[in-house]
Amino acid sequence: MGKVNENYLKLPGSYLFSRIGKKIRDYEAANPARSVIRLGIGDVTQPLAPAIIKAMHEAVDEMGRAETFRGYAPDLGYGFLREEIAKKDYQDRGCPIEADEIFVSDGAKSDCGNIQEIFSPDSRIAVCDPVYPVYVDSNAMAGRTGEYDEKAGIWSNVIYMPCMASNHFVPELPREKPDLIYLCNPNNPTGTTLNREQLRVWVDYANRSGAVILYDAAYEAYISTEDVPHSIFEIPGARTCAIEFRSFSKNAGFTGVRLGFTVIPKDLICDGVALHGLWARRHGTKFNGAPYVVQKAAMAVYSDEGRDQLAHQVSVYMRNAKVIYEGLAQAGYEVYGGVDAPYIWLKVPDGMTSWEFFDWLLEGPNVAGTPGSGFGPSGEGYFRLTAFGTYENTVEAMRRIKEQSGDRARRG
Ligand code: MLT
Repeated sequence: MGKVNENYLKLPGSYLFSRIGKKIRDYEAANPARSVIRLGIGDVTQPLAPAIIKAMHEAVDEMGRAETFRGYAPDLGYGFLREEIAKKDYQDRGCPIEADEIFVSDGAKSDCGNIQEIFSPDSRIAVCDPVYPVYVDSNAMAGRTGEYDEKAGIWSNVIYMPCMASNHFVPELPREKPDLIYLCNPNNPTGTTLNREQLRVWVDYANRSGAVILYDAAYEAYISTEDVPHSIFEIPGARTCAIEFRSFSKNAGFTGVRLGFTVIPKDLICDGVALHGLWARRHGTKFNGAPYVVQKAAMAVYSDEGRDQLAHQVSVYMRNAKVIYEGLAQAGYEVYGGVDAPYIWLKVPDGMTSWEFFDWLLEGPNVAGTPGSGFGPSGEGYFRLTAFGTYENTVEAMRRIKEQSGDRARRG
């Protein structure tokens, strides 16, 4: 008789975005005349940029000719892409990262979820609260998080670092000592950021305490503020304490194409062991390389043409962010984020819970967002809207929210 991994049985019902998706589908099925505007999951809406499509077409043609056909890709990524990433994302920005420290994968979500495998099962994790659910859920599956308290929404063996308006969404150094620290900057879900000095505090702490920082920089393309680092490797000392995750989903619209990479410096030693070698072993065993066509498409992200086109795409999303931020502020909401990130984080009005506000927004203005409590206990009372919709839908969503928020306030 086989036995299941009982850690899975401790997980809350379903993954946050699956639960939201189901609620929207159920509502639409019951109300076919209503059109719901989706500002929940951070999925892009603009088509792939012309430079990327061109590179993809060329790569597809290569795959159709015997002399240029390719089979398995190198499991750590093609040299051409690793070189390009190392140069353009790191060395040109003054970060000391080499091509063989880049591991190309099918996306940051997989890497953020899988990285915990190379650490001891009794490692203690620290997460910002609220937080991208993948970090906690993947550790829960590995049995690292203790018991789940459904009512409080917390795991007994996780160190939560509250990020709220009262501390400007900047996590404080934990009192208990973690082994692994997850940081996401710009932050999902709050849309706020750590500046260089604030990040330096964490790098120094990790080096002092022997903790490893797992740094998710999936939203770096949205940074416009000078003092916000694009990579943790801009901070001196990060090479000996940090792993960085990057994604092509949000900067190049690859949510459906799938590509990302992880950077592990060779001098990152944990427990006397180089993590670079462990991840290479894990990656080589469990991953057969991202598709050639997709890695060639990613090369266009770094071309002059591609860069211009993608900068334009980012500016379209950030125009949405401004529409949401200003619209909500005008409607009297307390609003955060949306300046260096495509997420807007708002305080739920009238003492409602995050899920109550979700239901009101879905059933009244017919707009779908993400309840803050889905990201952790300190997210309760907050709500996330994404700027990844179309401009027209975003404007319409704000018109509906403003109109119906007024009605709700008048009804008291
Ligand atoms: C989100 O909505 O938080 C993201 O889209 C999820 C993801 O990138 O996996």
